[in-house]
This record gives sequence, structure tokens and C-alpha cells, in this order.
Amino acid sequence: MSINVNVYTDFNEGKISKHIYGHFSEHLGRCIYEGIWVGEDSEIPNTDGIRNDVLAALKELNIPVLRWPGGCFADEYHWKDGIGPREKRKRMVNTHWGGVVENNHFGTHEFMRLCELLDTEPYICGNVGSGTVQEMSEWVEYMTFGGESPMSAWRQENGQKDPWKLKYFGVGNENWGCGGNMRPEYYADLYRRYQTYVRNYGDNKIYRIAGGANVDDFNWTDVLMREAAHLMDGLSLHYYVVPGEWSNKGSALDPKEEAWFRTMKKSFHMETLISKHATIMNKYDPEKRIGMIIDEWGTWFDVEPGTNPGFLFQQNTIRDALVAGLHFNIFHEHNDRVHMANIAQMVNVLQAMILTEGDKMIKTPTYHVFNMYKVHQDAERLAIKQPEDTYEFNGEALPRVSTTASQNSNGEINISLCHINPREETIVSLNLQGLTELNHVTGSIITASELNAHNTFEQPHNVRTEAYSNFTQHGTSLELTVPPASVLTLTIS
Ligand code: AHR
Repeated sequence: MSINVNVYTDFNEGKISKHIYGHFSEHLGRCIYEGIWVGEDSEIPNTDGIRNDVLAALKELNIPVLRWPGGCFADEYHWKDGIGPREKRKRMVNTHWGGVVENNHFGTHEFMRLCELLDTEPYICGNVGSGTVQEMSEWVEYMTFGGESPMSAWRQENGQKDPWKLKYFGVGNENWGCGGNMRPEYYADLYRRYQTYVRNYGDNKIYRIAGGANVDDFNWTDVLMREAAHLMDGLSLHYYVVPGEWSNKGSALDPKEEAWFRTMKKSFHMETLISKHATIMNKYDPEKRIGMIIDEWGTWFDVEPGTNPGFLFQQNTIRDALVAGLHFNIFHEHNDRVHMANIAQMVNVLQAMILTEGDKMIKTPTYHVFNMYKVHQDAERLAIKQPEDTYEFNGEALPRVSTTASQNSNGEINISLCHINPREETIVSLNLQGLTELNHVTGSIITASELNAHNTFEQPHNVRTEAYSNFTQHGTSLELTVPPASVLTLTIS
């Protein structure tokens, strides 16, 4: 099988926002507690309570933005319970996720410290479902007001003299479901009201994100845009790749091609969803001022056998690597509207970057794709033309290769390819239109021969990035031999 891909190096399609490479960390299962926060007295080496091994691994990814504290947890979270001396903080039940005790040891100060250590921008999600306007308003005042006020004084008493910088603020989460089971008309009104009191203090300008639709609820997007577009900067969208049904999602370690195909098909569905929601947004916002914020995406499988069903702990395989790469390619393609995306979730939950067990930690195949693709952050997308070439299974067909390309401010060109056919290799002829020569080409690849290849605490490097050089150069064209089930990136400098 061979396929021709043309990359037009002098056709710039706009910037790929680095915020597309955002993450999400919720008080859910072992994401925050154990995965990130171990406390200052832990035997696990830590910085101010945050584990060092996880920090070092995450730092490598250049995480631009991190969403917290939920998810469904956000609409049950009362921020005042999570500040002040830790031993005095209120213990509560995490009703949504496993009914476990939440001791509130990880609160606003700890989250802001995490962001500082990761050099990432915080994205806070406020409580509309069970919180008051006053509570939300005071949280913003507590975090961002530098003058004299009760909240500013309280923050200083708690050890933070200067206000933090906070740009991204979400007004509720999934308010059609766990965030209050609201109708769009009702939420649109609440959004208008709550966001009024999310103030800009001093030079801190907040980018307000309205809670968006569930998957294909286009009416939600229409109502929100109609009623509140002028008061928002971003509108969210949530979509998870669930290979089976919600009641029987399938195992992350399913080795069968049928599960593989269904997962790829559902990943491509993200393209349809973005296009349809964007068409509605265009009707009310033709200038494309408002960002589509895909602040929850990724695979959702059945939990690993023997683990708490409320903890959403799943393994992560080469299949997840392909899902991540395909999503990035789709987000890049819609860089005019998609301003941010946050994978669910950062550690130990759903499609995680990192899995931990006690003091051990492994990087997942998804981690390696994030690391490989970080070269596209804030780079200019280049136009691509390639014929439809399919991967077929049981009489259904999907595009066999998905490609994206960008040029960074140093003039370097990066081209990433996701090859979803798990059975056969593909020869790709990559033509770099508009260049007169290719100086230096390097490549890296993630691939595996088993469809459920993954990393374990015993074999942590089973699936990892390797150097890729299985290509020949003919002038400004490259002929690549691309193995089945692989994600690769070429850098041309
Ligand atoms: O990411 C897990 C959960 O999925 C989030 O809490 C919720 O917003 C979504 O339904």
C-alpha cells in the first residue's frame, strides 16, 4: 500500500494554540491523592507535598494549562474547605467518585503551587451546581485581588502575599448532568448571572468559559450561544471515546481488532462533532472570537479488574497512543475555533499520562505521544493534501493515515502521522512543496506489534518512543515505510 501526502510549506493555516495540549486533574480516584499529592511528610520524595517523580515527568511535556478541581467534583467543591492549616480542614465525602473521604489537603494553595512547579497556567472550574454566586465571586477575589479586602487579607494570612495570576475560569461543569441536571435555557441564565461576579481585578483578565454540550447536544450549543455569547470567551465541549456501550465499555487491554477499529472510528467522530458545533458557533460568532474548549476528552474503558469502580483507573496501550495522535490532528485542523483541549486525566484516571503504584511510576503510551507532539505547540499549521486511503474492517472503512504539519518560529517543520492500520505497513511519499532542499531530517516513532501493548511496573519501557529512520530522501520528497499501528513525527530543519 502506498499513499502520497503533499505538505505545502508556504501555505500557513494559522497558529496551533499550545493550549490544545492542556490537561485535567480532578479529585477522583488516585489522580490528586497518591498520583500528585503525597504530603510533605511522605517517604516518597516530594516538593511541598507534590511527588517529585511525577513532577519531573510532567515537566518534560511542557503542559500549558491544567484544569482543576473537576469535573463532576467541581460542582460539589466548596473552596473554603480547602484552605488554612491542613489539619483543621473539613473532611467530606467525595460522593461522586467512590464515596471516599476527601480531607481537603489539596486545595487552592496546593494547586497553585503545582501549577508554579509545572510552569503551567491554572484553569479553575467553579461550582454552579451546589455553590452560590457569592462563593464563586469570593474565590476569584481570594485568588486574584491584590488590594485590601476580606478575601485578599485571608489569602495573605494563609501565606500567599501576592495575588496569583488566573486567566481561565469555568463557570460550572456538565451542568446538563452531574453539574445540576439543568436545561440549557436555565443554565444560560445562571451562566449570565454567575459570570457577572467573576471579576477582573487589577490587570488580571479572566477568560470566562461557559459549560458546554455533551457530545452531540447541538441544541445546548445553540441556546448558550444565542443567550450568552456576548458574555463568554469560551464554550466547552465534552466527548469521550467509549469503544462499547456505557454499560459495557470494553477493556483497555482488549487485544482484538474489532475493538481497535471501533475505537479509531469513535476517535474520528471528534471531527464531526467539532465541525457541527463550530457551524452553530459560526452563526452567532462569525469572527470566531469565542474558543471551543474541549476540556474533557480521551478514552473511557471499563476499570481494571479488582479496582474501585468509582476510581476510573484503566491501563493505557498503543491504542490510546493512536487515539491521542488522531485527536491532536483533528484539533490542529480546527485551530481557528479550538483554542484549548484538556485530556482526561493527568494521572491514574482514564487516559492518563502517568500511572503510579506506591512509590513507583510509569509513563504511558499516551504520555509518549504528548511528548512527541509538543513540537506543534504554538507553531503555524501547514496545509496538507492527501488522497483518501482506507483501512477496512468488516466492510467498514476509515482513513488509513492521518497527517498534520506545522512550522515553528525557528523555521523547523514537524510532520506527525498516525497510521491506524494494525495489520500492514504503508509506504508514504511525503512531498514538501515549496522547499528547495531538505537539510536535516530526523524522526521518532511509537509502535507495537500487539494491539494491547502497554507498560507495566515490571516492564515500564515496553511501549516507548524510538528513533525512526526507515525513510529515503529524493530531493524534497521522503519515502517512509510506516509500520502498522504507529504514531511518528519527522523534524525537518
Ligand atoms: O473525567 C471524568 C468525569 O467525566 C468528569 O468528572 C465529568 O465532567 C465527566 O462526566
